Amino acid sequence: MGKYKIAVLPGDGIGPDVTEQAVKVIHTLAEKYNHEFEMLEGVIGGCAIDKHGDPLPTQTVDLCKSCDSVLLGAVGGPKWDNLPGDKRPEAGLLGIRSKLGLYANLRPAIIYSALKDASPLKSEIIEDGIDIMVVRELTGGMYFGERGRVQTENMGEAAFDTEKYSVLEVERIVRLAFETASKRGKKLMSVDKANVLESSRLWREIVIQISKDYPEIELSHMYVDNAAMQLVRDPKQFDVIVTTNIFGDILSDEASMITGSIGMLPSASLGDGTFGLYEPIHGSAPDIAGQNKANPIATILSVAMMMRYSFGLTKEAEEIENAVVNVLEQGYRTGDIASSGTKVIGTCEMGNLIQSEIMDKKHRNI
Ligand code: IPM
Ligand code: MG
Repeated sequence: MGKYKIAVLPGDGIGPDVTEQAVKVIHTLAEKYNHEFEMLEGVIGGCAIDKHGDPLPTQTVDLCKSCDSVLLGAVGGPKWDNLPGDKRPEAGLLGIRSKLGLYANLRPAIIYSALKDASPLKSEIIEDGIDIMVVRELTGGMYFGERGRVQTENMGEAAFDTEKYSVLEVERIVRLAFETASKRGKKLMSVDKANVLESSRLWREIVIQISKDYPEIELSHMYVDNAAMQLVRDPKQFDVIVTTNIFGDILSDEASMITGSIGMLPSASLGDGTFGLYEPIHGSAPDIAGQNKANPIATILSVAMMMRYSFGLTKEAEEIENAVVNVLEQGYRTGDIASSGTKVIGTCEMGNLIQSEIMDKKHRNI
């Protein structure tokens, strides 16, 4: 039995809908395995702007720092779209990643055999399934580089964002990616734009340098435009992909769609220790918020990642993942992954089914 403290930041839009289901699953694990998960709720994003005038109030940062891990829903919505960049809900998300030193974002894209029909790709392309891990750098690059507006001489106003990476920033994410590859299929694809960008040339140099410490890993490099194309042409060629913040943002959305829906992809944001922030990769989908329509699976699978990476609870992680597979195999779907012959259910019902799937096993084991 373990004792863990989790900060829960539901956020905006469907964030609270999906987080509620993930929290239910955490309670189920606590009951089944006799763990104590203390969950403390905080605000981030639009709801934090409404309450405190700040997308990332200090008390939220302090709350997260006092916990062993963070579960986050989603942030953003039309209500806050016209605020200046540093006051937007998204600034809260970027701020918490950076303030907690979470430079590595792991985004696994897996095709579940029950969901093959939901993938927009032809069955001969996905064959026996896809299992890709996107390792995205999360606290550097264009997201955090210098930006601003200037007046030009002949072209009016201009705006700029800067893609800047230091050797140390690249080294730590690339090492983590090699380590990840060594525990998986032993293949690493580094994605850059080294034919154009200086920051990418530095990135590639460092990847090549570090690869000398990992002779057992098959390393390749790909330009980001080609990677975007290869992901839909032949996704099976990928095992681990390591890339920058902006490229990782884009490619992980693309990878998620290959699996059928962005509503299925969890993520873990990690730093140097076991502390981590876990969130679905999807956004706040304000159009379906509060309607019991959102797919909670990405958030529930994020809890599985939390169990594995922050708490070392592998069995509990697998328990969640198996429960998700079983519920899908039984034909239950939220609207985003529905296909003919499946049973369409709501957010809450999906949470309940996954919960009871986890509990049932207990009864079978007894
Ligand atoms: C993601 C999201 C965020 C990002 C947004 C909401 C700031 O798209 O987690 O992928 O760009 O990192
Ligand atoms: Mg994104």
